[in-house]
Amino acid sequence: MLTDSFGRKFSYLRLSITDVCNFSCNYCLPDGYQCSQPRDFLSLAKITRIANAFSEMGTEKIRITGGEPSLRKDLPEIIAACKAPQNIKKVALTSNGYKLPQHINQWLDAGLDAINISIDSLDPRQFQQITGHNKLPHILKGIDMALSDGRADVKVNVVLMREYNGYDIETFLAWIKDTPITLRFIELMQTGENDKFFDAQHVQGSRIKQNLILAGWLPVINSHSAGPAQEFYHPDYQGRIGLIMPYAKNFCDSCNRLRISAVGKLHLCLFAEQGLDLQQHLQNDDVEPLKQHIRAMLGDKKVSHFLQDRLTGATRNFAMLGG
Ligand code: 5AD
Ligand code: SF4
Repeated sequence: MLTDSFGRKFSYLRLSITDVCNFSCNYCLPDGYQCSQPRDFLSLAKITRIANAFSEMGTEKIRITGGEPSLRKDLPEIIAACKAPQNIKKVALTSNGYKLPQHINQWLDAGLDAINISIDSLDPRQFQQITGHNKLPHILKGIDMALSDGRADVKVNVVLMREYNGYDIETFLAWIKDTPITLRFIELMQTGENDKFFDAQHVQGSRIKQNLILAGWLPVINSHSAGPAQEFYHPDYQGRIGLIMPYAKNFCDSCNRLRISAVGKLHLCLFAEQGLDLQQHLQNDDVEPLKQHIRAMLGDKKVSHFLQDRLTGATRNFAMLGG
């Protein structure tokens, strides 16, 4: 198993397959995706090599992310390639949901086990203000399709923002009363490009935690695969809640993930100073040199991000690396 110098074990890989996105979320790509130069994203063959190498190093879960991963036409093949290696028990996808209704069946047939969709507001107009697209009903339809199929675990990511949803999670809670999904409230994180937006919109997840506890929500014990998320359940609700509070003390102690960018760089942290190029070892099917290289680089993983000090590393926005 991959282990760093602080004893943390890494069983989870987040793999970005493109940094292109068709949405323009206000906290991420407010001016939309800017195509600077043609990009050479990881091919299916390279993705297969990465999945094989990580499986051999004890990885159990791969999350495919972006940008918006469904913009790649070969996504079903990528899902299948990530699912194939022996140790990989779970393949998950993070998506904005734009293609969910049309493609969910194909993705499930390819072996997808879990899907996270971003919905920052349940008000269609506000959803459009945030993302630039009037697609909320369409995305909710896709979620209903995934739920009634039943093969995949469904989660919804909500980024907390003062002026949008920061003071009103009631509509979200009403939704999960009878809907078996996990809502993940994510505290807004500062990135290289969103500092002013961050200052205006950041709200602490701990405030929501207090309100949940007052309303009878109980912490889930032993949520082994949750990583840094804190999970809650309520006897009267079918859905669950996860809180991601990156500014909380000790957040990084339970880090269980490594990241690879769409251009094949290993990022030891979402906010690391730089990505470490793997391309040299992705050129053929012998994954031994790739594994050695990754093990050697893991020694440099730092104990924590330094977000409290407003150090955002190389992360200009999350479309680069998929959060
Ligand atoms: N802070 C917190 N979450 C973010 N995401 C994108 N940018 C940020 C940010 N600055 C979220 C997206 C998506 C997930 C991959 O990361 O909304 O749900
Ligand atoms: Fe696209 Fe996700 Fe960024 Fe929104 S948060 S612009 S959906 S990459």
